[in-house]
Amino acid sequence: MIRKCLFPAAGYGTRFLPATKAMPKEMLPIVNKPLIQYGVEEALDAGITDMAIVTGRNKRAIEDHFDISYEIEAQIQGTDKEQYLQGIRRLMDNCTFSYTRQIEMKGLGHAILTGRRLIGDEPFAVVLADDLCINLDNDGVLKQMVQLYKQFRCSIVAIQEVPPEEISKYGVISGEMIRDDIYRVNSMVEKPSPEDAPSNLAIIGRYILTPDIFELIEETEPGKGGEIQITDALMKQAQRGCVLAYKFKGTRYDCGSGEGFMAATQFCYDNLYLKGLSF
Ligand code: G1P
Repeated sequence: MIRKCLFPAAGYGTRFLPATKAMPKEMLPIVNKPLIQYGVEEALDAGITDMAIVTGRNKRAIEDHFDISYEIEAQIQGTDKEQYLQGIRRLMDNCTFSYTRQIEMKGLGHAILTGRRLIGDEPFAVVLADDLCINLDNDGVLKQMVQLYKQFRCSIVAIQEVPPEEISKYGVISGEMIRDDIYRVNSMVEKPSPEDAPSNLAIIGRYILTPDIFELIEETEPGKGGEIQITDALMKQAQRGCVLAYKFKGTRYDCGSGEGFMAATQFCYDNLYLKGLSF
């Protein structure tokens, strides 16, 4: 029912310079696997097969990654190294990848609007690949959210509690609790100061959006940082209809920060790579 997943991937990744000078931040590896591959796996495991990737200049490595490399295939054919490509082959066999370019960087809302033609008039998921979400023994975060969507049929944002000193890095919600892990949103602010934050519930990079969001983004004026914010468009959607915030099960690593990147690397090394599960 949710068939498509949008990956805004045009950002410059300035927090990780110089690594991101000539390489997309989405291709930074967590041990041996690039961030965006984890995101696509999470989407496919949620039953989503159509990947819509909003890229920009210097992002061609993403397209090449989800394509055949004939030289490498020929080189490793018949050797035990073929197993290293099993994971990416599974994605290529079961998903389609469509791309469009965001010409100017005008914010996350603008990036999502850029993907409109690839999505069309249907509900869709959004994954911000630098938020790596892991829930090894149970359903991935997107799968949890797709199940919720089936029940509620409205936009859903994933949230987690964060300490006050970190709140200004996030979109923050407040709302009415309708289940111990679900809120009906009544307020949403992009990157507030700790004093102005409506709660300690921060939005992380997983969304399910209904397609009316596109028109709401079009109506949205530039907000925080002079950028068109998805948080502001979602606030309008919450006022006119319903938006849910979901406290997901699992761990999220902010791989756009050195600390989160290191923690994710250590976790994936111990729990996936060393066990031969990281292909
Ligand atoms: C974006 C969103 C923000 C959200 C965050 C999650 O911010 O604008 O609302 O909390 O992703 O990672 P960014 O981190 O791109 O500045």
